[in-house]
Amino acid sequence: MVMTHCTRFQHLLQPKLLFSHSRVFRHPHIRARTPLRSIMGSSSSFSSKLLFRQLFEKESSTYTYLLADVSHPDKPALLIDPVDKTVDRDLKLVNELGLKLIYAMNTHVHADHVTGTGLLKKKVPGVKSVISKASGSKADMFLEPGDKVTIGDLYLEVRATPGHTAGCVTYVTGEEADQPQPRMAFTGDAVLIRGCGRTDFQGGSSDQLYESVHSQIFTLPKDTLIYPAHDYKGYEVSTVGEEMQHNPRLTKDKETFKTIMSNLNLAYPKMIDVAVPANMVCGLQE
Ligand SMILES: [Fe+2]
Repeated sequence: MVMTHCTRFQHLLQPKLLFSHSRVFRHPHIRARTPLRSIMGSSSSFSSKLLFRQLFEKESSTYTYLLADVSHPDKPALLIDPVDKTVDRDLKLVNELGLKLIYAMNTHVHADHVTGTGLLKKKVPGVKSVISKASGSKADMFLEPGDKVTIGDLYLEVRATPGHTAGCVTYVTGEEADQPQPRMAFTGDAVLIRGCGRTDFQGGSSDQLYESVHSQIFTLPKDTLIYPAHDYKGYEVSTVGEEMQHNPRLTKDKETFKTIMSNLNLAYPKMIDVAVPANMVCGLQE
């Protein structure tokens, strides 16, 4: 059985934060437009631009996220953390909704499943694979902190959140009023709902993970929605404020966090020897 989670959320306006960006990635075939409408003046407004779907792969308990700007004539779309086994399901949805998939992105080099980016590139000509430069992986586009990935009038800001792996990033929707509100953070394995990714493989560091989360994620507005790469308990979404209050690991001081992480006694990941080499080359091994 394939589980599909659809999440609808309220959009509340938030005060602006300041941050700087270095580069903007825009697909050459997708025309840039100025925002058509403002939703300011309403205290609760549903974004007419964003189409959002949360999808689940049950063997690795991975969430894949589909985002599209449906106000744009081309309906440009991207997938975050697609899984090889569910690529056909994801593409069926993309086609049914009339979307144009342009980016297949990863938050990091996964050790528990093979990414779907390579298969997506094969099946949909023109799709570009995207990952952080710091991951050391093969891809079409390499991201650095502060970069923006744009689909139509929507964009994701790249934040470096290493610690689970050396190349982990969090993708955060824009801060402006014409972007989805509240903001959404796709945290990969940096923050899981009431947990976090392990730090004992792939250049992981509990010290670094603690710093990443507290400086890059817990500094976002408290109502920012947290969408993790996995969930093993049935949770779908959390918020920055909720995790700052209730995350059993990340609410602790750094030394306690490091002690917790070094005493997890987790088994060797069963897919790591297959998944990591495959994911270093976009999921396709020649
Ligand atoms: Fe991971």
